[in-house]
Amino acid sequence: MQFLAFASLFSLALASPLAGRDASTSASAVDVATAFVTAYSNMDYPTLAALTTPDFTFQDAAYPNITGETARGMYRWFIHDKAKTKMIVTLHNVTASPTDPNVAIASFTDDYYFNGNHVLNNITSTMTVSNGLLALEQDSYSFSAWAEQALGPLVGPLAAPLDVTKTLIQMTAKIELDTFMLFNPE
Ligand SMILES: *[C@@H]1O[C@H](CO)[C@@H](O)[C@H](O)[C@H]1NC(C)=O
Ligand SMILES: *[C@@H]1O[C@H](CO)[C@@H](O)[C@H](O)[C@H]1NC(C)=O
Ligand SMILES: *[C@@H]1O[C@H](CO)[C@@H](O)[C@H](O)[C@H]1NC(C)=O
Repeated sequence: MQFLAFASLFSLALASPLAGRDASTSASAVDVATAFVTAYSNMDYPTLAALTTPDFTFQDAAYPNITGETARGMYRWFIHDKAKTKMIVTLHNVTASPTDPNVAIASFTDDYYFNGNHVLNNITSTMTVSNGLLALEQDSYSFSAWAEQALGPLVGPLAAPLDVTKTLIQMTAKIELDTFMLFNPE
């Protein structure tokens, strides 16, 4: 308990210069993206949420386009279930976009269990920042490599390449997120 309290104070202290910024003093996209993925790797939902714009949009293979409370709800769900999924997020690097000062590219790995199957997902995330807050997160990774691991050794190799698998994963992912939010209001 002592250690947990210390760890969260420490991460708050680290994050507060960014989280407390007002809109007029914009942090760089790299700073915001780094603080965001660091908060995620610390499983620190309040800090993570404070770094997003009200209409924050998240896009990946499983969630093609979720916004606002739903996009934050996905992170709230993942962090809420961290003991069950043994989620470990490792940030590798964050680099500035060579073309857009509002964009940073973050590379991180999600290591967790999905329905009992071990998944290692290497993610490249394009993060667009607006007034010092994360406005848009676009995650890319190999969907078939993810599905092959997530669906397990029996079904994975057969189902992963099929188009219908992605559709079914998207439908299931949305239902599970909506269910979590229904039973766990903020
Ligand atoms: C994503 O969803 C938002 C809110 O529902 C909508 O305004 C936006 O146009 C959508 N974007 C895409 C790319 O579908
Ligand atoms: C960032 O980390 C990833 C994963 O380790 C690596 O593939 C990539 O080359 C790194 N990019 C930079 C710019 O260091
Ligand atoms: C993820 O990256 C690690 C380290 O670079 C590598 O060992 C692993 O095979 C990658 N996993 C997938 C599914 O791409």
